[in-house]
Amino acid sequence: MPLITLRHALDAARDGGYAIGAFNVSDLIQAEAVLDAAELTDSPVIVETLAGVSSHGEDARYWSGLLHLIGTYPDLPVVLHLDHGPDATTCRRAVDHGFSSVMIDGSLGSDGRPSSFEANVEVTAEVVEYAHAAGVSVEGELGTIGGSKVDGSRAEIVLADPEQAREFVDRTGVDALAVAIGTSHGAYKFDTPPDGSVLHMDLIRRIAERVPGTHLVMHGSSSLPADLREQNNRFGASLPQSWGVPDEEKERSVSMGVRKINQGMDSHLAFTGAVREALARDGLSVDPAQYLGQGRQAMQDLVAVRMRLFGQAGRADDLRNASPAPATAGGAR
Ligand code: 13P
Repeated sequence: MPLITLRHALDAARDGGYAIGAFNVSDLIQAEAVLDAAELTDSPVIVETLAGVSSHGEDARYWSGLLHLIGTYPDLPVVLHLDHGPDATTCRRAVDHGFSSVMIDGSLGSDGRPSSFEANVEVTAEVVEYAHAAGVSVEGELGTIGGSKVDGSRAEIVLADPEQAREFVDRTGVDALAVAIGTSHGAYKFDTPPDGSVLHMDLIRRIAERVPGTHLVMHGSSSLPADLREQNNRFGASLPQSWGVPDEEKERSVSMGVRKINQGMDSHLAFTGAVREALARDGLSVDPAQYLGQGRQAMQDLVAVRMRLFGQAGRADDLRNASPAPATAGGAR
């Protein structure tokens, strides 16, 4: 089947009362792990990737590889999504290449600092116009989701303002909205198990009420399982203790209206932990196929667990059988 759009996938998730995980991949082996997990659990799936960060030589070759790989799963409903497009040019590149969904992250300026509401609206609307004309969905971002740095410190978080949500959606026409509720990307999130003082679940409800036709997205949703951190550390890593978003909070977010749950770091921890262990246990190992295969399997197992948690498991038929929602006023696709 052809790629499906984010709008189509999340409309079905809303109707069925579940969320769909958007799993970050940075190479084709990880993408295969996600697609195999989706096939195993009969899930619709969002494969997402950032521009310019894979170990493949160049985006165009890597992206063509992703499209080819997805084509080898002809019965699986798949969204191919650009995560955190930094500017309109990058988003246009992904649209032209064949992605079915792009995120424009207008929340940050080119200096990496939170940008103004007006600047965010302007760049997001520009991307929506281009993408919707090509039948591609768009996710925008309101507020600023934190980003962790290599040294474990965290970049600034600006919580989403529910009062701005309606205006942002009306003026941009986005299909999905990433809302900053206190989470951050990466392997260093919370210094203690998170509660309502750092994880602002109430914001989800307040924003969902104001933008009922737009799907909410939770970023920075990795749980950072202690056993995976310990496995990595046992075999050479030095990851400091940190807490992620607990499973119960993810389930609660779905009941409040979150339809897309982004996670990448848990997959990285699973993949890299398995690779580290495989290499450490077999000093004669030099064939990448062997240790990468173990990484792929560990990531697939973890992603399958998350698909069951989010409620998308067993729901592939929702998208195999339904025809895409028609474009509506405001450009939603
Ligand atoms: P994590 O860093 O928590 O895995 O979140 C990934 C993400 O939100 C990508 O946009």
